[in-house]
Amino acid sequence: MGAGHTRFGVLDAGPRALIRSAVDAAFASVDRGAERGDVSEAFLATLGFGGHQIGNSSAALAEEAGLVGVPVTRVENACASGGFALRAAVGAIAAGSAPLTLVVGVEKMTDVSNARRRYWLGVSGDTEWERLAGLTFAGVYGLIAARYFAEHGDASDALAEVAVKNHENGALNPNAHFQKAVSRAEVRAAPRVARPLGLYDCCPVSDGAAALLLAPPEVAHRYTDTPVYVDGTGAGTDFLAVQERPELTRFRATQHAAHDAFRSAGWHRSDVSLLEVHDCFTIAELLALEDLGFAGPGEAPALTLSGATRRTGRLPVNPDGGLKAKGHPIGATGVSQAFEIFLQLRGQAGPRQVPWAEHALAHNVGGAGATAAVSLFSVG
Ligand code: COA
Repeated sequence: MGAGHTRFGVLDAGPRALIRSAVDAAFASVDRGAERGDVSEAFLATLGFGGHQIGNSSAALAEEAGLVGVPVTRVENACASGGFALRAAVGAIAAGSAPLTLVVGVEKMTDVSNARRRYWLGVSGDTEWERLAGLTFAGVYGLIAARYFAEHGDASDALAEVAVKNHENGALNPNAHFQKAVSRAEVRAAPRVARPLGLYDCCPVSDGAAALLLAPPEVAHRYTDTPVYVDGTGAGTDFLAVQERPELTRFRATQHAAHDAFRSAGWHRSDVSLLEVHDCFTIAELLALEDLGFAGPGEAPALTLSGATRRTGRLPVNPDGGLKAKGHPIGATGVSQAFEIFLQLRGQAGPRQVPWAEHALAHNVGGAGATAAVSLFSVG
């Protein structure tokens, strides 16, 4: 029934100020207004990047949101924290314990040195086999991309198309970290970060926050005539270290999450008219299309190159610019995906509005596929 968002990017604001801005915006967005005193439960999604209030940050959220006294639960599942926090809020509402619930995702990433940033980016990978061996997330996804090419052929054109498409969408999003289109030639000429991935295959390091206000349908109708419904959620896990998994090019956590979400909503893939997927690296958008069941193994490059996933295509993906262009403040990302869906399904997304968006999917991944959450939304 309400959703708020800060700008994503390199910002002066610290995490407390980011929380405050996103929460204020969420309350301001409620059509008939909501009071802080109406909120009975809250969830905070954050990694605590850089060491900002590492423990007990739920109380910091209560302070900044004007909710001291209200129970707040912190959810930390790396980059998937937001998707899991949303799922926890839906569960609390379904259990009848929370009439009006606040979900906030936040991360402050840009105020630390490069060495500390590498440490904090690495903490969500396997500690013994990945982080301490020097493997970064760009490195893991580079290996995954190389393996994908070995199994299905060179998909560089499709990776470039993902970058071009998401930057084009981000250029229409006033909250995006990068609001500029890039050409395929620029993408190809960019420095390599972890072969075959280059600069434009990577999400940036961003600050930002997003917030949602949720309620059971009968309560939400008191606040707005156009609520967005969460019809189903699902989540899954996999081995933390990619070496323990039978395949590099499929994320079973995503497959599990999608299966449960579609089953709980009673939807078919063909019902979905808009996707927000976790494109932390361009290869991840291709994997998501396959693991979520919108393309068969090895078919996502052709689907992408056909233009189907553009804003004007038959299956728009990441109309807000995705993690690639909108940015990826770890704990905020899953909440931000739901914010975009809230706007799109209510026809409030301005120049990036997707026509006929009535059923949408949000897909949020932690690390290199060790955790994943999927939620399905509808309107009307
Ligand atoms: N896409 C496009 N441009 C980018 C970018 C990205 N991902 N990251 C940085 N830039 C731009 C900057 O805006 C800057 O442009 P300018 O010179 O015009 O101001 C320039 O590139 C250099 O920026 P800098 O911050 O010095 O880049 P960097 O080399 O330190 O970092 C990456 C680049 C790709 C290594 C970094 O963005 C990164 O680590 N991304 C992945 C984050 C991650 O792993 N998240 C978790 C995912 S699971």
